[in-house]
Amino acid sequence: MSEAPVLAPSTSTQPPAAAGQLNLIRPQPYTDWAPQVTAEERAMLRRELEQGAVLYFPNLNFRFQPGEERFLDSRYSDGKSKNINLRADDTAVRGAQGSPQDLAGLYTLIRRYADNSETLVRTLFPEYIPHMMRAGTSLRPSEIAGRPVSWRKDDTRLHVDSFPSNPMLGKRLLRVFHNIDPAAPRVWRVGEPFGDFARKFVPKTHGMWPGQASLMKLLHITKRKRSEYDHRMLQLHDLAKADLDYQANVPQQEFQFPPGSTWIVFSDQLLHAAMRGRAMMEQTIYLAPQAISDHTHSPEAVLSRMLGRPMLVS
Ligand code: SIN
Ligand code: FE
Repeated sequence: MSEAPVLAPSTSTQPPAAAGQLNLIRPQPYTDWAPQVTAEERAMLRRELEQGAVLYFPNLNFRFQPGEERFLDSRYSDGKSKNINLRADDTAVRGAQGSPQDLAGLYTLIRRYADNSETLVRTLFPEYIPHMMRAGTSLRPSEIAGRPVSWRKDDTRLHVDSFPSNPMLGKRLLRVFHNIDPAAPRVWRVGEPFGDFARKFVPKTHGMWPGQASLMKLLHITKRKRSEYDHRMLQLHDLAKADLDYQANVPQQEFQFPPGSTWIVFSDQLLHAAMRGRAMMEQTIYLAPQAISDHTHSPEAVLSRMLGRPMLVS
């Protein structure tokens, strides 16, 4: 597959977007988690990713070992958290219930996904290797549609990822998703480029008051001092989700990720919403800001330009 063009035609049955319409999905031909890629292909992938596109691998499958299919059943979730999680350095999963054998099996499955995802990112983006850190891995075995959640937690609304208690201090969120359900597509909406989104909402955000970051850390509202970057990103997340008119009318596209497909995005940059789907795996990788070569499209670059000062100086 190494000689195939990077921008191969999609193998999905979805019609191509008409000219002028938003199309952020970039299909890729690779079938292996350690694919052979040329330097030119790697440069193109990195450019597309950093511009905020979805790198979509329709034929990059993550295969179950015998017996692992049982973990698609949401009864292995402990009921408190919707996902089963593995932290980078842990040797056991969190949020799961079952026999010791089940829990060991879940660990093996999720750990294998983490290893495969990291291998993929290291192979496609070797320049990121000195700047990347493996973060959490999750198995999400519950249907998304119809979940009762507050608007702020409602990921069926378009948003960029940002966490209230976990300031990133400029670290980027690179995520590798895989639709592990054998039958149902994972249906997403993706929205306009981050720069366009920011132009609408940044004027409605505000900075922190003096002492706010220290106080929030002291009160354990945040795990570390929140930066202005995190503060603005969180407001952008909330402002987008709260604005139903924006949700309905922003330029956007729906895309159905079929069973067995994989996709990579910067989820702090790409406006996304997960509408339907039954079972997904997800790997998060933190990337230090200096890894990014595109200083036009990254959230930090856009915010710094709009606010007239660097966002990542504390
Ligand atoms: C999200 O990151 O907003 C959710 C993605 C998904 O569950 O498909
Ligand atoms: Fe999200």
